[in-house]
Amino acid sequence: MTLHLSLKPDGPDFIDLPWQLPLSEWREACSRWVELPMGIARHPIVFVQYGEELYAIKQNVAAACRKEYENLRELQRLNLPAVVPIGHGSLNEGDTQASVITQFLSHSLPYRNLFTQPNLAYYRQFLLDAMAGLLVQLHLNGVFWGDCSLSNTLFRRDAGRLQAYLVDAETTEFHGQLSEAMRQHDLEILAENVFGGLSDLLAGGLLPQHMDPHETVALIEHKYAHLWDKLHRAMEIPVNERFRIREQIERLNQLGFSVEEVEIRGDASGEIIRFKVCVTDRNYFKNRLYGLTGLEAEENQAREFLNEIQECRAGLSQKRPEKVSLQEAAFHWLTRLYQPVVQALYPATQHTDRNEAYHWFLERKWLLSEQAGHDVGRGTALNNLLKSLA
Ligand SMILES: Nc1ncnc2c1ncn2[C@@H]1O[C@H](COP(=O)(O)OP(=O)(O)OP(=O)(O)O)[C@@H](O)[C@H]1O
Ligand SMILES: [Mg+2]
Repeated sequence: MTLHLSLKPDGPDFIDLPWQLPLSEWREACSRWVELPMGIARHPIVFVQYGEELYAIKQNVAAACRKEYENLRELQRLNLPAVVPIGHGSLNEGDTQASVITQFLSHSLPYRNLFTQPNLAYYRQFLLDAMAGLLVQLHLNGVFWGDCSLSNTLFRRDAGRLQAYLVDAETTEFHGQLSEAMRQHDLEILAENVFGGLSDLLAGGLLPQHMDPHETVALIEHKYAHLWDKLHRAMEIPVNERFRIREQIERLNQLGFSVEEVEIRGDASGEIIRFKVCVTDRNYFKNRLYGLTGLEAEENQAREFLNEIQECRAGLSQKRPEKVSLQEAAFHWLTRLYQPVVQALYPATQHTDRNEAYHWFLERKWLLSEQAGHDVGRGTALNNLLKSLA
């Protein structure tokens, strides 16, 4: 045996794993084996743990593993939400079977766990929004998925909503720009796969009877079309209403999209201009929060935290002759507000994403203040939340 792995340099070497055995036997043979929730898979998959890090190892034919690894790297380069590739390789060089290793997407949930939760109605809309949003993001970057399904998507909580991640990149293609026909083709694949996934759940009695797979698929398609249209609509405005361009950019930023370019064309009369904005990624708030605090958060969490940083800036500025800089407010927020709350919540929320735990705190503070008709303060909100988590 001459184990042959190509790995990213900053992770473990995976040499101590029982590669000579089929994955189905790792449970008994390997002390690093861990059981975690997962979606439906055709290929054998195991999860292993090194220190605090968890990894997924999937077996497949060698060419498919290499392709999936390369595709995931390209998705990472494009800053798109997908699982992070760590390596690929086989037991002996030239083996037909190989493995691809990815970082386990922390705090993620497969759709089955979400669809079968009692608060399904609450999450359903968000799940459909997240799926449509993920496909739009891929298509904006010229990525054809080729196998969009519920099982090939993972979901992470994001300030009470959900963020979707691509997990299976075997069929992904990169085109720079996608034709209308390719987008439609990808949507047809989504419709067929999601319909199949939901029908299975329904047949297994895991879905409420009133939830119709046809209707759910139509809803995702509708959400996709609506968002795509919003991002690509060309607008006509009178020359003296140029401020509307700024308004449109802000509207798209509010949806989380970063605007890279604005195309402007005047008409012959000189009174009307047509403009179209070109959006790149859906990391607008995420990037801003990261730039200010170094915190990595999901998009809705980041938006919520940035709002609090702005409030904090206003509060600090009241006590000074000059307006406090955003950088200073962000540092104050991180060290005096965010970190102490996250630390206090940690024992009770150690299995939850820290940002989501902080979101719970903000939500609780807002709820209690609304009930009381005045701001109840951070201490009261924190104690109240801790009590309900105990
Ligand atoms: N990095 C990861 N983090 C978290 N979960 C993962 C990861 N990789 C795989 N999974 C889990 O394993 C499931 C199956 O993974 P994947 O879709 O890659 O397998 P597959 O056998 O190629 O699927 P298909 O049947 O579509 O070919 C996913 O739905 C997910 O729940
Ligand atoms: Mg899959």
